[in-house]
Amino acid sequence: MLVTVEGIDGSGKSTLVKGLAGALADLDPVITREPGATWVGEAVRRSIAENDDPMTECLLFIADHAAHLRHVVRPALAAGRIVVSDRYADSRYAYQAVTLKNLLPDPAGWLQAVHAPFTVVPGLTFLCVLPVDAAVTRLKEKREHFEEASVLGEVQQNFLALAEADPERFVLVDALLPVDEMLSFVADEIRRRAGAAR
Ligand code: TYD
Repeated sequence: MLVTVEGIDGSGKSTLVKGLAGALADLDPVITREPGATWVGEAVRRSIAENDDPMTECLLFIADHAAHLRHVVRPALAAGRIVVSDRYADSRYAYQAVTLKNLLPDPAGWLQAVHAPFTVVPGLTFLCVLPVDAAVTRLKEKREHFEEASVLGEVQQNFLALAEADPERFVLVDALLPVDEMLSFVADEIRRRAGAAR
């Protein structure tokens, strides 16, 4: 079963995913992430840091996804493991729909079309949602170019539209809850769905 965790920067999703490793230890999940599960992540980090060309950056994120699928996600799913990924394709559909806005006529449609033939669609996606102001307050001073409040506001709208379009897959998580409450809610939901999938 493939589970993904999404949300804007400052939503606490990375802390949540780290907590899941412990909370689900008896299920022996594979905990992974995008970007950075393979060496391609280093190229992505460099592209983010240089804030160069949005299309170059996007294609590197997609290359990172391809390598992640080939080397981590598909083998783990084939072995019957539960895979939990901190960010996944929905991050592209939400973030790059914003960064490519002035470069392509329909970035969201293009992003979906590029992924569709080769991606693995998650069975369950948790979307951590909180007011953009609260997220920005949580971020450190040194921000990546995605982390402007206006960008994050648009990104979160895109995430919410994705969730609305696919309510079977998405579960919304109140990211203002204390971390241990978020964690037990998400861990219980994964156990429930994993039990049902057997
Ligand atoms: P991430 O490593 O999750 O951020 P953090 O620094 O909080 O650990 O992701 C780095 C940045 O890349 C983050 O601002 C979100 C952005 N991103 C995209 O724009 N598109 C994508 O497809 C992914 C996976 C991340």
